[in-house]
Amino acid sequence: MSDKAQLIVEGKTYEFPTIEGTEKEKAIDINTLRDTTGYITIDSGYKNTGATKSAITFLDGEEGILRYRGYSIEELAEKATFLEVAYLLIYGELPTQAEYEAFEHKIRIHTMVNEDMRRIFDGFPVNAHPMGVLSSLVSAMSAFYPDSYDEKAPDSTELHIIRLLAKLPTIATWSFKKSQGHPVNYPKNELDYCSNFLHMMFALPVEDYKVDPVVSKALNKLLILHADHEQNCSTSTVRLVGSSKANIYSSISAGICALWGPLHGGANQEVIEMLEDIKADGGDVAKYVDMAKNAKTSGFRLFGFGHRVYKNFDPRAKIIKKAADDVLAKLGVNDPVLEIAKGLEEAALHDPYFVSRRLYPNVDFYSGIIYRALGIPTNMFTVMFAIGRLPGWIAQWKEMRTNKEPIGRPRQIYTGATPRDFVPMNER
Ligand code: MLT
Repeated sequence: MSDKAQLIVEGKTYEFPTIEGTEKEKAIDINTLRDTTGYITIDSGYKNTGATKSAITFLDGEEGILRYRGYSIEELAEKATFLEVAYLLIYGELPTQAEYEAFEHKIRIHTMVNEDMRRIFDGFPVNAHPMGVLSSLVSAMSAFYPDSYDEKAPDSTELHIIRLLAKLPTIATWSFKKSQGHPVNYPKNELDYCSNFLHMMFALPVEDYKVDPVVSKALNKLLILHADHEQNCSTSTVRLVGSSKANIYSSISAGICALWGPLHGGANQEVIEMLEDIKADGGDVAKYVDMAKNAKTSGFRLFGFGHRVYKNFDPRAKIIKKAADDVLAKLGVNDPVLEIAKGLEEAALHDPYFVSRRLYPNVDFYSGIIYRALGIPTNMFTVMFAIGRLPGWIAQWKEMRTNKEPIGRPRQIYTGATPRDFVPMNER
């Protein structure tokens, strides 16, 4: 690798240092670009911009590699618990038995949510989207823990981290319960993280609820696969908001809002809604494959295919596809929407149009299918993604603060009017 990059601007040559990461990713350090040349860079969507140096997650889009702190996603999804992965992301190493037990215990004893938060929740309409509710209530947590934004208060970040991990699943289940007209469930702290969530989602006061281990194992895997994805839109949002020294609850709440968008985490909901629409229209997959190929004229938007950074395949999708096949077989799920999904998957994997454009099914395509099989309603899919992504957001927020990164403040190229005189209203 060359240790200097040259840039010729207006006939003058400037040199900039280059940087190499531990996985040999290369960057040109342009920190001094504007000061020395008077120029800035334009990089719409930040496709070529490294916003930070991070030691958390490595992703190779060409080779389909994803690692958290050096551990492959395949191994973690197979062997670890979600809380083990959360610990790894946030603290940098896999926990010892004692560290794990202490971490899990702290989370268990913080699962209850202040009853006044429930009163805020009660004010939401019954059909409120659970992502809107979740982001609002996470933001409201800052009001319940004011030391999170008090610069003079002793540092309580660790406790806020535990609270977020412990309370997010509890809050998430409230929306579902309300939509069903059922009372909310309090957490049952003898249960593990995933089982506790499932219990709060599905238990009813009138009968015993036993968590199906197939379901809780599948959930554990799904949450691990979503736990971090380097500088994606919601994570960049969390870092950017946090860079202004905003508290952790506000930063994570902003991340939840970013995740909600259909081009980001909201895609898993869009996938199932798209499959439902195809089914309602007679289930003719070939017709929709053609419409996807002629998107400009048909106006049909295909969700769940391709990825901004994975050029050949999404390694999470491979794991999830296998998990989806296992779970559907074990639970004996027979769902016509899943047949349509299989038809689309088939087209994407073999049709030259899809293959040449690298439109392979991605993680959102399969995660919606599993969540549906687990009995999670469609409008809760992105909430599930948020629960999974929470440790990643926390780890990235913490790294940004620990490294004392400066406030994020992009520049622009102004394209508006040049100076002109004010015209009084009666003369316009
Ligand atoms: C994610 O997991 O955040 C999504 O795949 C989106 C992304 O990485 O850009």
